[in-house]
Amino acid sequence: MSILKAVRGTRDLLPPETEIWNHIENTARSVFGRYSFGEIRTPIFEDTQLFARGVGEETDIVAKEMYTWEDRARAQSEKAQSLTLRPENTAGVVRAYIEHGLGESGMLQKLYYIGPQFRRERPQKGRYRQFYQIGAEVIGPPSAGSESPLRDAEVLEMLATFLNELGITGWKLLINSVGSASDRPRYIAALREALRDVAPTMCIDCQRRAETNPLRVLDCKVPEDQPIIETLPRIADYLDEASQAHFAAVRAALDTCGVAYEISHRLVRGLDYYTRTTFEFQVQSEEGGLGAQNALLGGGRYDGLSEMIGGPKAPGIGFAIGADRLVLTLEAQAGQIAPRLADAYIAPLGEGLNPAGLLLARELRRAGLRIEVGDGGFRLKKSFETGNKLARNIVLLGEDELHSGILTVKNFASGEQTKIARGELAFALNPDSHSSPQE
Ligand code: HAM
Repeated sequence: MSILKAVRGTRDLLPPETEIWNHIENTARSVFGRYSFGEIRTPIFEDTQLFARGVGEETDIVAKEMYTWEDRARAQSEKAQSLTLRPENTAGVVRAYIEHGLGESGMLQKLYYIGPQFRRERPQKGRYRQFYQIGAEVIGPPSAGSESPLRDAEVLEMLATFLNELGITGWKLLINSVGSASDRPRYIAALREALRDVAPTMCIDCQRRAETNPLRVLDCKVPEDQPIIETLPRIADYLDEASQAHFAAVRAALDTCGVAYEISHRLVRGLDYYTRTTFEFQVQSEEGGLGAQNALLGGGRYDGLSEMIGGPKAPGIGFAIGADRLVLTLEAQAGQIAPRLADAYIAPLGEGLNPAGLLLARELRRAGLRIEVGDGGFRLKKSFETGNKLARNIVLLGEDELHSGILTVKNFASGEQTKIARGELAFALNPDSHSSPQE
């Protein structure tokens, strides 16, 4: 029989690498907590319409990359519902915000999420079909200050703090403003006009985008199209006064906080809901170990998204970090982590001592130690070999040790062998444990 493997573009995450994942997630929870964000968990699949309307029919995500299926109708009279594995989490968060009337409190909602997303992209390093995002959204009624540029700057400053706290080096923040809903039609008209002559010489996707969604032309990665794209009108020249002032205020707050950034005129991002501020944090490929996928995270403002999916006016700003890419970057910068060793490996000397071994392990684990228990059926040589792979020390537990309460401990690194009273063992094996010798 052929061996079944994980589906293309999906991966198993195994220890010790999962320690890095946990470290990143714990750091995110800790940093976001200090900015007063609370966790939201939305379903992994949603009604397809949510993404079609929220993310946009013409985006690559909706047009080509979604895992969509017709759910079985519950009754004959019912139509089958079209469902989709979430390709991103912002639309789901805004749906939940509307569904639970979170805006009715009149307060800003600051929500973060950690979880898998699904896109049928061509897999490569840093790009998967099931990938993980750590994201956050700040959303609320305008009366709560949800449109304030302060919110944009606060989110960006929080991200800089998060990356610095993780020890990521060489990151670069790119920002842009894609204007408000009223700026956009003027810019799109100018873009369409400019594209009329040049689009036929561009890639097939751009020829289509020029007709259906000209803004997406700016996302094009085809090398031959780049010089043409550089000649197209810039959105910065089409921002009205309010949008210009908003963008200037975001930049001023970043300057004050000392968060460095570059303005990137082409940063329109691949989702249709963005208005005004958009941003991306990148790492240079040689520093980040990401190859072509150098966008660590991306986000922006989405002042009209709630209305697009049938909700009240609820401007918002947020981001999603590609956790897979963050892990690759940390590994490239800090090196692979070695498997974590236990504080001790308990070797019961004889099968009859297995229960006593488990009891000793229970005591030590309660004191906060990381413990492996061997099997009294092993020969002593095998216990030492196994213990040496798994732990820093081996604790021998024979009949004598059991009755005298004095245990023999050998440290693998130094080769030193000592006798230690049972009550002092936890502290001797790991002075950081909860128990001290006096207890
Ligand atoms: P996005 O730019 O589509 O934005 O994705 C955010 C991040 O997710 C990317 O920068 C990248 O690190 C990671 N990512 C995307 N696709 C993949 C993939 N196939 N494999 C690995 N990593 C990937 C959003 O999803 C928006 N919802 C962000 C947002 C939140 N905007 C406002 N609020």
